[in-house]
Order: sequence, then C-alpha cells, then structure tokens
Amino acid sequence: MPRPFNGSVRTGQPSDTAALTRILHDAFSPYTAIIGRPPTPLSLDIPAAIDAGEILVADDGGPLGFSCAFARDGELYIDVLAVDPAAQGRGVGARLILALERAAQAKGHSALTLYTNALMHQALGVYLHLGFSEVDRRHEDGFDRVFMRRPVAPALNIKGSVGGLFGRRRGPGFRHDTAFDALAIDLSAPAPQPLTSLFDALVTKVRLEVGFGGGEHLIDHAAREPAVGLIGAEPYETGMMQAARAAVGQGLKNVRLHMGDARPLIDWLPTSSVDRIDILYPDPWPKQRHWKRRFISIANLTAMHRVLASGATVRFASDIPAYCDWTRSHVRAHAGFQIVSDTPEAWPDWPSTRYEAKALREGRTPQYLTLQPIKVPDA
Ligand SMILES: C[S@@+](CC[C@H](N)C(=O)[O-])C[C@H]1O[C@@H](n2cnc3c(N)ncnc32)[C@H](O)[C@@H]1O
Repeated sequence: MPRPFNGSVRTGQPSDTAALTRILHDAFSPYTAIIGRPPTPLSLDIPAAIDAGEILVADDGGPLGFSCAFARDGELYIDVLAVDPAAQGRGVGARLILALERAAQAKGHSALTLYTNALMHQALGVYLHLGFSEVDRRHEDGFDRVFMRRPVAPALNIKGSVGGLFGRRRGPGFRHDTAFDALAIDLSAPAPQPLTSLFDALVTKVRLEVGFGGGEHLIDHAAREPAVGLIGAEPYETGMMQAARAAVGQGLKNVRLHMGDARPLIDWLPTSSVDRIDILYPDPWPKQRHWKRRFISIANLTAMHRVLASGATVRFASDIPAYCDWTRSHVRAHAGFQIVSDTPEAWPDWPSTRYEAKALREGRTPQYLTLQPIKVPDA
C-alpha cells in the first residue's frame, strides 16, 4: 500500500516552477494520445499563476502535486489539479481538495468547481470519489468537457466554549486503582497477532472506543457482547479508573484499556484488525486555533483506515452541528471512507453516553454518522 501523504499544503513559490512543470507534464501528457491533442492544463502558465497566488503545493519532502484555483462567480474554480503519477494513491489530491475547501470556506465561496475532459475517465472517477457531482457536459473549444461541482460547507463558526476534557486529566477524588493495572495495554510490546488474543475472554472481533469519558458506553457494550473484545482509550484518568473498576467489578474479561491519546494506540494496532471504532461526542474544540486538535482529521482518518477490517465501521456521534459538518467534509476529502448513514436516529443498540445525556438536558440535538472504510482489494 502506498505511504499515505503526511506532508503539508503551502502556497507555491517561484522556486517550485521546475518541479511543478515536470509534475504537470507527467500527469497530463499521457492524455494527449487519448484526446488527440494536448489537454488544456498543459498550457498553464505556472510562473504567472504562482505570481498571482493561485498555486497550492502539496509538499512531503518536495512537491508531489499542486492546484491552480481562483475565485469566479462566488465559487472557487479549480483550473488545474495535478498529482505526480509516482505519488498517486497517497491521498495527495484529497489533501489539496481539503485545502481548497478551507480556502473557499474562509472566503465565503459556496462551491468548488472544475471541468475535466470526458475522455479522462480516471480523473472523472477521482473527482466523483472526492465528492464532486457532474453538473453539465458540453463541447467547448474543441473539447468534450464535463463540468463538476462540490458544495462547500459554510465556515465553521461556533461562538463560546462548550467545554472539553482533554488536558484536565484528573477529577476531584482521583485515586489510582489496581483494577486498571490488570487491564492496561503495554504499547512498548508488539501487538499480539491475532489481536483477539489480547483478551482473556474468547472473542471473535475487536472494537475500539476513543475518548470514553466515564466508560458507561464501553462497559455496557462489553457486558452485552461478551464475544467482542473492547479496547477503550481515554486520557482522563478519573474516567479511566471508573471504567477499570466497573470492568473488574463485573468480571468482564473482554475489556482492555489505554490511558492517554488514542492515536499511538491506533498506530500500535495491527492492520485490518478492528471491526468498529466508536468516537462518541469527541471534544469539539470550538475555537478555530484549536481545530487542529479535533480527533477527526485527515491524518487520523488515514490511521483508522489502516486498522479497520474490510466491512468495518466508524460510529461518530456529536451534538455540535459544526463538528458534524467538519466530519462530513473530512470524510468527503479523504478518499478512503464513505458515510453510510447520517441521521438524528441513534443506532438500535445504543445505550447513550454521559455526555449525550448532558447535551440533551441542555437542549442540543445529537446526530449519528456511520462511516465505512473503502477497502481496495489487493491486486
Ligand atoms: C466530550 S467527552 C465525551 C466522553 C464520552 N464519549 C461521552 O459521550 O460521554 C470527550 C472525551 O474524549 C477524550 N479525548 C479527547 N481527546 C482524545 C484523544 N486524542 N484520545 C482519546 N480520548 C480523547 C476526552 O478526555 C473526553 O473524555
């Protein structure tokens, strides 16, 4: 599997000209034979576009792709999106689209628009996959063009704080409990293979709950489904001890715990080893400068995608509409997931969570999203 793109997106500089010219050539010149003449992007004046501030570069130790986009009729028009063929399959195009979406949101544009040639079937498929829909098809300047559009979610703008527990690691009356020591996962040792052998109980599948708070949902889930191994990750130490005490007190043999950030735990898990990941009422981080701390990110989607088995799901619940929009736009921008349901109806086996009860008491309406990884079978 190609290494996922882990770099950054930045504005193009004059010093990028040679690299971008090569990428443009390598990405588009193969289409000359198919279309019967050089495709339009090959005529891009890269130095002029850099000068106009229209170029974004996806950089991971050097340029791997770039976009050229500018405002047109209240929308952000993508003139060129080029990915180095040697970097295809790494999520470079998705990352550029996400950056363009953020730029469009910041400027109040309502959509991303582009056109591609009707004979460029692969590009058409990629754009559909990235959440674009076809809006028109016509013959223009001697080319058969397909016009595509992707609406941009309005800028996320939640005023005030709705709280977040990350960072406050201990509540009043905290005491360490040896129940936790028995269930704690040692990330310094390799993950057992198969992962089901992590548990004392005989389990047939493994699920992960990220940020379980006080652990009520995790413990209910473990008690109801003894053949499922439950891993819970939570940095809030008081909640962790509560969950450990409940698991040991109820004699549950299908629970293991990680105290801390879920991300190193996910990186520790074997590929395709997890049947479901629950992310229930993640901290919304309402201030824009904190959005990078939100658990749903392209990097975390990529990390989760690796560990999810084929047919697995991610459950995401939130009472913050802007975080739901954030999740939808990240999933659309990430080529590896699709949203299979997005509804105010809770899952049928849903026991609710402490945070959900608080949200309902305070008059907020939860939304439940189910994501599924798109797994391409090995060739
Ligand atoms: C708003 S609370 C929701 C708790 C619980 N899921 C519920 O619905 O009652 C969010 C929880 O996520 C935890 N959290 C935040 N960032 C996390 C991370 N990177 N990894 C694991 N847990 C995290 C916080 O400590 C907090 O307990």
